[in-house]
Amino acid sequence: MRTQVAIIGAGPAGLLLARLLENAGIGVLVLERRSPDYVLARIRAGVLEQGSVDLVDEAGVGARMRAEGLPHDGIEMRFDGDPLRIDFQARTGKRVLVYGQTELTRDLMEARAAAGAASVYAAEDVAIADFDTPHPSVTWRHGGALHAADCDFIAGCDGFHGATRASVPVEAINTFERVYPFGWLGVMADVPPVRDELIYAHHARGFALCSMRSRRRVRCYLQCPLDTDAADWSDERFWDELRRRLDPEIAEAMQTGPSIEKSVAPLRSFVAEPLRFGTLFLAGDAAHIVPPTGAKGLNLAASDVRYLAEGLIGHFRERSQAGLEHYSARALARIWKAERFSWWMTKLLHTFPDDSAFDRRVQRAEFDYLRGSAAAQTALAENYVGLPA
Ligand code: FAD
Ligand code: PHB
Repeated sequence: MRTQVAIIGAGPAGLLLARLLENAGIGVLVLERRSPDYVLARIRAGVLEQGSVDLVDEAGVGARMRAEGLPHDGIEMRFDGDPLRIDFQARTGKRVLVYGQTELTRDLMEARAAAGAASVYAAEDVAIADFDTPHPSVTWRHGGALHAADCDFIAGCDGFHGATRASVPVEAINTFERVYPFGWLGVMADVPPVRDELIYAHHARGFALCSMRSRRRVRCYLQCPLDTDAADWSDERFWDELRRRLDPEIAEAMQTGPSIEKSVAPLRSFVAEPLRFGTLFLAGDAAHIVPPTGAKGLNLAASDVRYLAEGLIGHFRERSQAGLEHYSARALARIWKAERFSWWMTKLLHTFPDDSAFDRRVQRAEFDYLRGSAAAQTALAENYVGLPA
């Protein structure tokens, strides 16, 4: 079997890349370790920058996102009960769109199916070879049989624990990492959001976030210790703790209901450099991780895919190598800015167990500065809505 681009991983990065390349007439093979149902059951990000929305539209899969996504002009913040609203529209002229990663993934899967483009799900033991040459290949097991494909390029879109980054010789790759001493316990429930906008709250008991997926579905998070087992958290315990971390007015107005999903995610910052190894390119979570506080993970995956698709289309259509040559540096410049912002939002809003009294005063001063400074609010807003590509 032969294809032009073998894409490993059918998360949002892999599926969006596949769609953009297929629209340009480039042959792709998509290999995914899990089943479609498993992929669609993973609850993850919920906020799209305008640049990501535009890319989804350009890929021709934006109809439902446009119809059902909720435009948000700002966010609410609380620091030990003190309120601050960041007005994205006033500060940047831009807004974000609340539309779940699961829905975006579903739209991409349906578009592939409608176009007659198949992905290989439940592909086991995916392995890549010879990516230091112009003739790389991939092998995988499916239904008990071993399969192989030759290709021109491999796109590693297989997430943080995938096979592609792990195949790169250690001496060829640099990694940078920060692991945070806490995670997020997330709950999804079919009740109306308490406010029209997301609420990010710092509290001595830990950070809390009230997010949403629609006008009838909320997604809420609590900062939790790393060893938290979601099974120990009844719905009642979760909602009680969330209320304690919010101001009384919001806590009282908040509607709660049975959870339809509950899970714990650790928080991590991670970057791999470079993102190109011969004919292998890394994109999305395979290349970098941000803590979710800045809502950047999915958006970074989208900007990587934009740059990589441009590079590959330039190669196949115009025989131009410029886009592929610059992919790594171009993507990393944007990645590091998002890493900085996600780290900063995390530091501003979480309760760090080892922080000294001095650290806590500085954290409070950071919030007070933000509250009093239009410049600081603009800086937050322009990062949240997405820096220019
Ligand atoms: P993924 O979505 O991870 O997709 C990678 C795909 O590759 C998966 O389908 C996986 O099954 C497949 N795969 C893995 N290994 C192999 C293999 N060996 N062979 C074949 N296929 C393989 N971001 C936010 O902004 N807000 C959030 O609240 C948020 N919550 C998150 C919670 C969790 C638990 C995680 C892991 C991430 C979260 N993120 C969040 C980040 C955001 O969801 C990711 O940045 C986004 O999913 C990146 O997309 P991706 O396609 O690069 O990777
Ligand atoms: C979410 O809705 O899942 C979400 C929103 C904003 C974040 C993180 C997660 O910063």
